[in-house]
Parts: sequence; C-alpha cells; structure tokens
Amino acid sequence: MDIKKLVSQMTLEEKAGLLSGGDFWHTKAVERLGIPATMVSDGPHGLRKQDSAADHLGVNESIKAVCFPAASATAASFDKDLLEKMGQAIGESCQHEALSVILGPAVNIKRSPLCGRNFEYFSEDPYLTGKLAAAYIRGVQSKNVGVSIKHFAANSQEHRRMSSTSDVDERTLREIYFPGFEIPVKESKPWTVMCSYNRINGVFSSDNRWLLTDVLRDEWGFDGYVMSDWGAVADRVVGVHAGLDLEMPASGGVNDAKIVAAVRDGKLDEADVDLCCERILNIIYRFVENAKPDTPWDKEAQHLLSAEIAAECMVLLKNEDNVLPLSKNEDVVFIGEFAERPRFQGGGSSHINCCNITSAVEASEGMLVDYAQGYSIDRDEATDAMIAEAVEKARSCKAAVVFAGLPDAYESEGYDRTHMRLPECQNRLIEAVAAANPNTVVVLHNGSPVEMPWIDRVKGVLEAYLGGQAVGIATVKILFGDVNPSGHLPESFPKKLSDNPSYLFYGGEGNRTEYREGIFVGYRYYDKKDMEVLFPFGHGLSYTTFEYSNLRLSAEKITDADTLTATVTVKNTGSRAGKAVVQLYVGDDESTPIRPVRELKGFDKAALAPGESRDISFTLDKRAFAYWNTELRDWHVESGSFTISVGDSSRSLPLYARVTVEGSAELPRHYDMNSIFMDIMADPKAKAIFAPLFQKMHDSFSGGEGEEKPEDPIIKDEMMDAMLQYFPLRNLLSFGEGAVSEDALLELIERANA
Ligand code: BGC
Repeated sequence: MDIKKLVSQMTLEEKAGLLSGGDFWHTKAVERLGIPATMVSDGPHGLRKQDSAADHLGVNESIKAVCFPAASATAASFDKDLLEKMGQAIGESCQHEALSVILGPAVNIKRSPLCGRNFEYFSEDPYLTGKLAAAYIRGVQSKNVGVSIKHFAANSQEHRRMSSTSDVDERTLREIYFPGFEIPVKESKPWTVMCSYNRINGVFSSDNRWLLTDVLRDEWGFDGYVMSDWGAVADRVVGVHAGLDLEMPASGGVNDAKIVAAVRDGKLDEADVDLCCERILNIIYRFVENAKPDTPWDKEAQHLLSAEIAAECMVLLKNEDNVLPLSKNEDVVFIGEFAERPRFQGGGSSHINCCNITSAVEASEGMLVDYAQGYSIDRDEATDAMIAEAVEKARSCKAAVVFAGLPDAYESEGYDRTHMRLPECQNRLIEAVAAANPNTVVVLHNGSPVEMPWIDRVKGVLEAYLGGQAVGIATVKILFGDVNPSGHLPESFPKKLSDNPSYLFYGGEGNRTEYREGIFVGYRYYDKKDMEVLFPFGHGLSYTTFEYSNLRLSAEKITDADTLTATVTVKNTGSRAGKAVVQLYVGDDESTPIRPVRELKGFDKAALAPGESRDISFTLDKRAFAYWNTELRDWHVESGSFTISVGDSSRSLPLYARVTVEGSAELPRHYDMNSIFMDIMADPKAKAIFAPLFQKMHDSFSGGEGEEKPEDPIIKDEMMDAMLQYFPLRNLLSFGEGAVSEDALLELIERANA
C-alpha cells in the first residue's frame, strides 16, 4: 500500500478523524477509501477482547482466553527465551481473534512496593525490564501482530494517575525510568507505544514533544504510532504536534473538530496531521496485509504452556533443612483458601476471563494431600474454628503448606496499597500452623513484596507471584520436586515498607510526586546504604547447587568505543538437573558522579544436568559503564577502573574482575572568577596556567617562603591545601597580596577557556 498517496487522497476531516478511535477498541475506518478499522485490545498476559460492552477497567466480560503469568512473575524467570515463547503464543491468539495490537507489555519501574499495578510490571531494574520486554515483543510481533509498550513514561503510581506530575530529574529518567522502553524500542521495534496518563515535570505525556518525538523517535528511532492511554489526552492539538498519533478511545468527534479548526486557523501544521495519519496507516496495513485469520488457538495447549511458564517463574526464597521438595509418600496438608481459589492475576484492564483455572488442590488430586480452608478470602477473616482445623491437620501431617498472599482488593490497577502487610488473619494463621508443625512452608500469591513477620518460624517460602490460570499445576510440581525452582527476585524485598527509598515521598503532595530518591531505586539504594533486606534483588534458591568459577575478561583495558566480553564457568554441583540464573553487575570503582555500587548489566539462564558445566559469556558495551551526564546531555564514561562481578544474586557475587575503561568524551569546562582551585587543578590545561598562583597563595598563607614557621603550627600544610582547594579565583585579588591584577587574572581565565 502506498501510504503517502493514500493520505494525499484524504480530506482534512477524514485525516483528523483517523487520529482518534472509532469506538472503544477500534481505529476508525474510512470507507470512501477502503481504509479498514482494526482492533486493539488488552493485554498484556493474555487477551481481554470485549465483543460487546466495552470498558478499560476490567468490569465487563471479555471472551474466554488464557491467562498467562503476569509480568511480576515472568520477570522472575530471568529468561528471555521463555518470554519470547509466551509472546508467540499470545501473538497467535491475537491473529486468531483478528487483533492488530495487544496493549502491553507494561514496563513501568517498581519504584515502591505500594504501586497498585506492580503485579503488571516487571522489575525495579531497568535493564532486566527492558531485556525481558524486548523478548516478549519479539515473540508477539513474530506473528505479525503489534504490541503497545506502555505506559510511557514515569507512571509508577496509581494514586491520581490521570492528573499527577512525576517530577523526575533527567538523569534519573534516562538511567531508571526510560531504559525499559528504550531497550525494546531499539532491539524489537514495537509497532506502537502507549503514552501514560501522568505528566512528567509538569507536562502531560500526551502533550510532550520532548518525550514522544525528540527522545522516542529522533533518539531511539521509533517508527510506529503512539496511542494515548484510555482518556489520557490533555490538549489534542498540542498532542498532534508533540507526536501523539492516535487518541484512544473515540473522542466523540470533539477533538477531531479541534484538529480541523486548528489547521484552518493556522495553529497546527497540516503536515503534522499527515504524519500522524501515515504512522497509523503504516501499522494498520502492516497488520491487514499479513493477517492470518485461520491461525488456530489451542487454549488447552496454552493452558499447559502457561503452567510450564509459571513453574519457571516461582522463586524459592527460603528452604531451611531442605524442607522442600516434599515427599509424595508422606501426608501433607494445603492450608488457606488460595490453595483452592488461587490468586493468579490482578484487577483492572489486564483482567482476563479465563477459559480454565487449575488450583493447587485440584492439581494434587490423587496425592496424599489434605486441605483446610484456613481463612476466607472474601471476608478477609480466619475464624477460630478455621484456625483450629488447620492446626489440627497440620499437627498430623509431615508438612504443612500455607497458601497466603494478597486478596484482589489489596492490589489492583486504579489505586495503590497503603501498607506492605499480608492480611492480619493470614499472618495469624501462619504463626499458628508453624507452631503446630515444624515443616511449615508458605506459598505466596502477590504482585509485589510483602512483610513476613513469621519468616524465622517457617522453614520454606515459595514466591509464586501472580502465576496465571494454571498456577496450581506449577505450584504442585515445584513443591513435590517435579520441577526444580529457578526463579530469582526481580526486585528487593525490604524488611519493612519504611526501608524503601521512595517511602518519604511516594504518592506525593496533591498532584505533585517528586522522585527524590533519584537513581537510587531498589537495590541501588539498599546496596549504597549497605542495608539489610529481607531478600535481595536477584535472590532465588534451587534444589541443586551451582558453582561459579573462572571469570575472565577479553581485555584488561578498553575504550568506551570497544566491547568487552566477560566469560564465567557455571557448574551444577548437586544431584538434580536445574537452571542457574547467572547475573553480571558493573560498578564504577572511583567516580566523580554519585553512582550506585553496582548495576545489573547482563543475565542468562543455563539449564544444567548434574555435574554439567558451561561457559556463559556476556558482551558489555559503552552503556554498561556509562551514566547520564547532564552537562553533555548524553551518556558518558568516566575513565577509570570498573569492577565486573558475577554470581546468583545482587548480594551473592563470588567472582569479580577489574577492567580499565577510557572514556572518549571530554566534559565541557568553563572557568570564571568563581571557579575554585580544586576544579582547576583537576584539569591539566588549567592547572598549567594557574599552578604558580596557587603556590604563591599557599606560601603566603603558610607564612611566606623561607620565613621561619612556628613549631607545631595550628594550621598544618595539608590543612592549608585542603582549605585552599575551595578558594575561588576571585580570592587571588583579595588575599593574593598583589600576586596578580584583575586584568591579568581575566586574561588567564580567558586562556584556560580557550
Ligand atoms: C490502562 C491501560 C489499558 C487501557 C485500555 C487503561 O486504563 O491504563 O493499561 O491498556 O486502559 O484498557
């Protein structure tokens, strides 16, 4: 299809009309020119396709579909291939249902455990988020269906999500809140991007030309269309110029008319409207011309695939005395209503009408597994009778597994949590069961960290996150050792909410939320503060053991234009097959900018048979060493030594090696009367010019050269030097005893700036 030609045939009204939805879920058709309407739909971990009554809050029914594990879970897999496979399955369902775009993945950063939508987001770490989202997108789009990566950007809270401004400095945006989008845009070319509801530093994302055009398109090379989140458009005319191509859902014609009027009044360039049309039509025809409506959708097979994926995501947090795996020959009791009615997805626009649900109770049929309700999900209560029944059954079994977690009302799209606790009734139940049976294990269903006041009294904890509709199958397989757990935490679990770096400012004041912790999100903060956490980022146990050895680098010294290869050998030293999650972190040993101790820059998952070992390699480029320099407004590597560390969690890094990296960019320097000696002496060129004056100043302050010095002077030489470092050049005039005139000093400054 010749898109430019098609646009040239459209009237201004038709073009303006194309820039908003035809209804809740479709782009607008232009029948005169044969332009079809295409459907978009939520997402992201399955289809929420509404054939009749439409809404964006998960209220009305959608077609029966398969609910895969949510991103909070899939992130824990640390497995790009798995995400790609899941994307392929979802892409096939979209083809079957004639959906041109699925609304996801959602890649906002888990800034605080409180965000109501954390269950839909991947991680506190931008690199992990970006790499996994890129893999999911590759999978979906390999089926000729587009994704809409969302919500661009800095949408890490639900509170006042449609009006609040996320006030974030640029370095923090670039290092923390953008890479989850940037990596997939560059690597996987998503067909569409969804802008967020919120403002960034006062400007609505839907109006933000810097965000939607300068950064997204000009810097990262995005070539699809940007759609608004549902109802996120603030000023439609400003948005068209900013690069917001499609308003969703339908605007009732109001904004279409505004676009037409703005063009007629000369307030909006028609070329901007044409560009939006071209970008939308490109994607519409990319889908239509490759549609495969006869793609089969085998929901039963996908149900089993979702079980397989869920099993790869579960994180074994604690396993004292190898309480897990459980023996199939001994009595076990599953306690807690989640064992029978699991929580496996979150509320809101991602809510899927499941074609099938398998609970742990169902999955363990025929095994020696008893069940006690323990508490009621609906009433959020554990009666004395329920607890008594649970305790009695726990007492008579070899092991007790309590299924706990957050009920639907505790975490959902649309509002944030107010605390990090489990329901009190569940905490009480766990304490009671643990007192009755020494082999107590807790399985958790939640999208975000919870406090665990009972952690020292239970032997095992399995974090299942929100594992999708077949979560029960996966849980039973892990509990009884049919699958060896291999998930690792994509976020830190603080001991208590107030330990979290965003704690003091999260949610903000009125519409203003300041991201004052800056780049120190999650482990970047806990590590810098050397704080104890409940479980660190990257942590995850296995039923086997792995040994890491022989970390070697391809060079000892590189420039920031080179790449570095780091290779490590991983061996399965236990007696079961298992999967190791190998993590690589980079830290700047000495840096002028304030930086985290280490940051994740590589990860891989390796399946190893007992005794098997394998080399795992990572390629590091400039970005692995760089920080965002606000003066250059670019990535910058400060020359010096960096530590590469490798291991199986951010706090378990047995191997390290050092590399020297030479940065190529010169930082801009400018001197004036207020420049201080310290900065001048750090610049070889300026140092050569000012060193003699610095020496004179030093001598005159320490009593003059050759003059006799008092014994044991109160101000020692080193102290003098330290103090002089902070002197501005202008002090040469006031304290320099005529060492230099003002004119001569200005001339020297000019030379240093030349
Ligand atoms: C959500 C989006 C979703 C859209 C359509 C919005 O409320 O923020 O994530 O895709 O609704 O349902």
